[in-house]
Amino acid sequence: MIKMSSNYSIFVKLGSNKELSKLELSVLLKKIGVENIAFTEWMDYILLKLNRNSFTKFFKQLDKTGSIVKAGYINSSVNIEKEDEWKLKIKDHLVMNINKHSSDKNKQLKVALDVQTKSLELRNNIVEFIRTTITNYSKDMKLLTKILGIKKTYSQLTPYQFYKENLHRRGFEIICFVVKSKLIFGITNWVTNPLLDIKQDEGRQTRLFTHGTSIKLSRTLVFLSEVSDEGLILDPFCGTGTILIEALKQKIRTIGVDKDPKCFRATKENLNAFSLKYPAKAKMKDKWVVYSQDSRDLGKTLTDKNLDAIVTEPHLGPFLKDLPSKEEARETMKSLEKLYIKVLQEGSSFLKNNRKIVFIIPVYRYPDGLEVNPNIERIANQCSLLIQERSEFFHVSVPVQIGRKHNVINRYLVIFTNHSS
Ligand SMILES: C[S@@+](CC[C@H](N)C(=O)[O-])C[C@H]1O[C@@H](n2cnc3c(N)ncnc32)[C@H](O)[C@@H]1O
Repeated sequence: MIKMSSNYSIFVKLGSNKELSKLELSVLLKKIGVENIAFTEWMDYILLKLNRNSFTKFFKQLDKTGSIVKAGYINSSVNIEKEDEWKLKIKDHLVMNINKHSSDKNKQLKVALDVQTKSLELRNNIVEFIRTTITNYSKDMKLLTKILGIKKTYSQLTPYQFYKENLHRRGFEIICFVVKSKLIFGITNWVTNPLLDIKQDEGRQTRLFTHGTSIKLSRTLVFLSEVSDEGLILDPFCGTGTILIEALKQKIRTIGVDKDPKCFRATKENLNAFSLKYPAKAKMKDKWVVYSQDSRDLGKTLTDKNLDAIVTEPHLGPFLKDLPSKEEARETMKSLEKLYIKVLQEGSSFLKNNRKIVFIIPVYRYPDGLEVNPNIERIANQCSLLIQERSEFFHVSVPVQIGRKHNVINRYLVIFTNHSS
């Protein structure tokens, strides 16, 4: 347990897959050296306290995560039962932020509002007060303000809708939580940019699959591998290279392998395009290599035990529009299990000690509740790996929905380690 002075209170909004965001948050806290700290989970948010040093480090790391939606700091809290007091405090808070964010150049200020209470009446009361205060104050200042998020709370909006307002650039967001008898309020100062991810997803030089691994998920997988700058990641099923690119963005060196020559060429094209686009991000040419071969024979190419992690979304079986019969499903999963075992046996022999394998496992879910998937324990046993310890809050296996109507494969994220901790 690390002792620290708790100077800064922050909030973190979890994404649609809460377990995945919590897992990323736990890795982020570990990276900045603050594990085992107490936090409160409130609706879609986590509230926690950090000292000044960790606070700065925390916000620097957030861009590297893939599934956390937004974060910010809490300015104040006040007893909600004393209406005069909270109104006064919120007014100060609003005036201070309007002054801070408005300038001669910026006469149009957007103010977003996210009020998280379980009582609708209270929420309306707070929202109404904030709206009146902002309108009156901006009139005095001859400032044009646009107040967003009155009808819906931002937790009801998708990150895409949230970011579309481009709030982060041209305004600020006031956030209020009513937890028990306290009104806590603060300001958002970090938001994911799903627009950029979608643009990049669609702008990939070469796209071969109806859906390659998404940029957001790839970034999450890389983050969870806990590899630091200049480390080395292997993706033995690299497809079009999305995971490799997300790693390179973090200055992590990469090796990609794919047995399909089309995929090999696609990865090379995508990585070359990336290298040209970001020449300043270090000499990318020295940082990646791609092989066209079957990953069951990694030993044909790899020689050194120098990998810092294996991060991959492997071959998940045939592309399906409907669930196969249970018998067919078992057959598919059996053959995938065999493939994963062989590739991970090979791959882990080039992995340094005490490292991670961040892996996706496909699952077919039947209406009667049956789940058919490769056996995770058997994979771990056969490859002398451990399924990373489950802590109280952060589960290792996280279901990740692909989210396209016609696609029936669900996915589990599994983190293996090659060392008993
Ligand atoms: C789910 S895709 C990877 C998607 C990739 N992450 C992306 O975003 O483009 C799986 C890839 O595994 C490759 N693959 C299947 N079996 C393989 C094997 N035995 N060795 C190497 N690659 C294999 C396929 O060609 C396919 O490109």
